[in-house]
Amino acid sequence: MNSNRKGIILAGGLGTRLYPVTIGISKQLLPVYDKPMIYYPLSVLMLSNIREVLIISTPEDIGKYELVFGDGSQFGIKILYKIQPNPGGLAEAFLIGENFIGNDDVTLILGDNIFHGPGFEKYLSKASSRKKGATIFSYYVVDPERFGVVEFDRSGKAISIEEKPKKPKSNFAVTGLYFYDNNVIDIAKSIDRSERGELEISDVNKVYFKNNNLNVESLGRGFAWFDSGTHDSLIEVSQYIQAIEKRQGLKVACLEEIAFNKNWISKNLFLQQIKKFSNTPYGEYLKRIIISSV
Ligand code: TTP
Repeated sequence: MNSNRKGIILAGGLGTRLYPVTIGISKQLLPVYDKPMIYYPLSVLMLSNIREVLIISTPEDIGKYELVFGDGSQFGIKILYKIQPNPGGLAEAFLIGENFIGNDDVTLILGDNIFHGPGFEKYLSKASSRKKGATIFSYYVVDPERFGVVEFDRSGKAISIEEKPKKPKSNFAVTGLYFYDNNVIDIAKSIDRSERGELEISDVNKVYFKNNNLNVESLGRGFAWFDSGTHDSLIEVSQYIQAIEKRQGLKVACLEEIAFNKNWISKNLFLQQIKKFSNTPYGEYLKRIIISSV
């Protein structure tokens, strides 16, 4: 277990691109096929062996996340909650989470980002094990201008990062999963707000880049990364998860399954979860896990 890395999920924001859907409900609670969106980023932190997680959301919505996850003990982890009063940018996570992070390293994941693909745990453990600097992940997309964009030289070394550039220098978007050492707190404190009034994660990454401390891993063509913040991407990712789960009979981001496989929860606790979800496909799946484990 990596005991000195904490995890943060940012689940605030306004979700304006999904209006009117998200006027009355937090985006990260919307369903992605058979579970709330936030299950997927939480599964990524758990697959990274992170057992202390801070969920950050709006004053209106934080209580709903507590209702969904409680203290996290059902997954053998500890979940804490904090408010972001206004959507002041992704890098605010390190100021809001300063006490939570303490002297540890930290992984930030955006609550609307969904990752799935071969070898993902290897990527995660490589990033987790780096004691110094930052690791971010890039992914080839058709619409890079919507994201932070990273440019590489011929040898594959990152040579520039720009936030939502009008003329992107490459098609490689920076995904919403970031591994940092403890310096990220001081770096987040040192950057200025952007024109749109936000503490930008790209500005944090630029500091690591300038100090030669930024590792960029490219997620390959066989990999799936979705930012489920638009009507189309939300339905596309739901269909993707449905297709994978139906084809294999295995669930993506079943948190109890991950915890059980990692020996973080007892069989007893697992059985209690099955009761909670009786008469649902999710509960049926949990039953299958326990039967195949004996
Ligand atoms: P965005 O998709 O950039 O913003 P948003 O969710 O408010 O959506 P929209 O652009 O449609 O208005 O945010 C990415 C993720 O980060 C998302 O899960 C919300 C979260 N977020 C915060 O929690 N706090 C913030 O200050 C910002 C900017 C985003």
